[in-house]
Amino acid sequence: MMKPRHFISLLDLSSDEFRALIQRAIALKNTRDPDFQPLKGQVLAMIFEKSSTRTRISFETGMTHFGGSSIFLSPRDTQLGRGEPISDSAKVISSMVDGIMLRTNDHVTVTEFAKHSSVPVINGLTDLLHPCQLLADMQTYFEHRGDIRGKTVTWIGDGNNMCHSYINAAIRLDFNLNVASPEGYLPDADIVKSAGERVQLFNSPLDAAKDSDLIVTDVWASMGQEEEQKQRERAFKNFQVTQELMNHAKADALFMHCLPAHRGEEVTADVIDGQQSVIFDEAENRLHAQKALLELLMCA
Ligand code: CP
Ligand code: NVA
Repeated sequence: MMKPRHFISLLDLSSDEFRALIQRAIALKNTRDPDFQPLKGQVLAMIFEKSSTRTRISFETGMTHFGGSSIFLSPRDTQLGRGEPISDSAKVISSMVDGIMLRTNDHVTVTEFAKHSSVPVINGLTDLLHPCQLLADMQTYFEHRGDIRGKTVTWIGDGNNMCHSYINAAIRLDFNLNVASPEGYLPDADIVKSAGERVQLFNSPLDAAKDSDLIVTDVWASMGQEEEQKQRERAFKNFQVTQELMNHAKADALFMHCLPAHRGEEVTADVIDGQQSVIFDEAENRLHAQKALLELLMCA
């Protein structure tokens, strides 16, 4: 069996491939040709252990645009939810479909699934990484400001799956990443270390934001952490993206958030709904960037 190509982490792409994928996404966005159906007859299975608006709709629409189709599976719908081994499920599902996207609680579920899958596996978010979101975020930055190489990005808040994927993007696209997180909520030390000089940790959000080209944040409590909400509200109260914080960044700095957002918690309404925010381009670009990804993985 030929080993399929998976997309579990941004590090599965080379720097050149990442840049080419962004350009391809921009081209697909600007020249939508209904007759271009490179995945005609192909099927993507989408396994969701957690909720989703953007990820589900963008993959499903992308497959339809490309002439293929998709199957949405929640844990209630499959034997995976009743304890069928991941390895058996991966062998069976991959024997019938052409690609599989998974959104799971544990990162290891996706890596284990990929090990036994005969078709490409795409990480649609785990507790560790959210690489598909970074394809869209980077496309959005390139569209608004050009190449991100050498720029400074500041991550404010939880050292979570999104933060880890920003670190991987900094490695591949060669930008500087400042991270300001409260004590106890820092990103994974090994992932930080893997980026070397490119990632700097800060205690003060205002210091981190200074002269940045892009400010990014995410919810204080991710999916699966709902019970920690109150405790996290206390820990993160000084880690809100406000207009004052944006004023420490460059005058033309952009603001991004993967959504869903909680206005008044991680970001004030005036920032997320203001001039510097590009959140809706970012959300739309999930569709275009993932079409470029599907083409790369499934048209090979
Ligand atoms: N940003 C993102 O992944 O959104 P969904 O949870 O709605 O898919
Ligand atoms: N960090 C968030 C991202 C949601 C798209 C979560 O994991 O819930």
